[in-house]
Amino acid sequence: MPKGLPDPRWHPRHADQRGRALDTARSAVILAGGQGTRLRPLTLGRPKPIVPLLNLPFLHYQLALLRRHGIQDVVLACSYLVEAVQKTLGDGRDLGVKLRYVVEAEPLGTAGGVRNAADLTDGNLVVLNGDVLTDVDLGAMLSSHEARGARASIYLTPVEDPTPYGLVETDASGRILGFLEKPAREQITTNTINAGIYLLDRNLLELIPRGQAVSLEREFFPGLLARQVPFFGFVARAYWRDIGNLEQYRQAHVDLLRGTVNTPLTPTGTRRDDVWFGEGVTLAASARVAGPSVLGSSVTLEAETSVGPFTVIGNGVSVGRGSRLEGAILWDEVRVGQDAVLRECVVGSGAQIRAGAHVGPGAVVAENGVVP
Ligand code: GTP
Repeated sequence: MPKGLPDPRWHPRHADQRGRALDTARSAVILAGGQGTRLRPLTLGRPKPIVPLLNLPFLHYQLALLRRHGIQDVVLACSYLVEAVQKTLGDGRDLGVKLRYVVEAEPLGTAGGVRNAADLTDGNLVVLNGDVLTDVDLGAMLSSHEARGARASIYLTPVEDPTPYGLVETDASGRILGFLEKPAREQITTNTINAGIYLLDRNLLELIPRGQAVSLEREFFPGLLARQVPFFGFVARAYWRDIGNLEQYRQAHVDLLRGTVNTPLTPTGTRRDDVWFGEGVTLAASARVAGPSVLGSSVTLEAETSVGPFTVIGNGVSVGRGSRLEGAILWDEVRVGQDAVLRECVVGSGAQIRAGAHVGPGAVVAENGVVP
């Protein structure tokens, strides 16, 4: 840097008393390299970052959140079905962000993935698990991070049942004391869990060995505690859901349809009486649609069909005469025959639900699957 010019990362507002630069996070890394086994069979052909949510690729919601908080430089750490992700999300221009991809030949784990991707970024980092739907106030999290002189912060969210998650224990000041992955009931001492949203001083990433599979939760974070790095939990009341299993994935649709998630995104199309209609929807006069529901473009509903509430239908879907859909999520190009009943289920793209079939609560139909 030329002499006399201030280091752009150095600003008194972001310097603590020990004179350490705490530059405002400008870049984000999204961890998007997992195989999404809990969402199978849906993720066999389509990786979790782009499974549809109200007919939009899932990561649109995270990119919109980052954009809303002024973060436009985003690197996706990918390793599974990468081409599909790139084809769907492109360079992020449509969403007002600059999106770049770093591909792991072999999955490097969550810490290895961050280390690998961070080479492309500047300043301190926001890191997101690529499977959480949230409206957390990242600006408030960053202010808390800076005010406490933290070098690492984790967003902690309270949940009713913490057993499937990673528990994080803190002291009264919010300083992190310990981690417990997927605790047994008798081990539970707190209901705040690691929400998969982090702020990291980039210098800390040097602690992660290169080119090696390393976990944030199991290795890197406990290592920070052992080194007594200032490491804090940020607890806030915000919407938060891990969409990584079928039940949570379906529930995320319900939440968005109810308006419980504060997001700038809306489904594509025009809204009438709590129903979103995409372009070229063909409705028979006797078809009924109850909101909140979403119909994608070129959807056809034949006579006496009944759709909704809480139903999301992808583009190019046709529903045969007399069929009933309630709480159902249908991806693109699904064909539903006559007099079928679909309730609280998820149906992958191109699937065929034959006449008279019943697809019940909790069921999932794989892409191109056939239900006789
Ligand atoms: P399941 O197999 O269903 O548990 O899902 P998953 O593979 O996504 O794993 P998990 O939910 O534990 O991962 C949390 C986040 O980290 C997700 O957003 C994953 O995409 C991401 N992730 C997991 N492993 C890796 C990895 O090796 N590399 C990268 N870049 N991301 C990963």
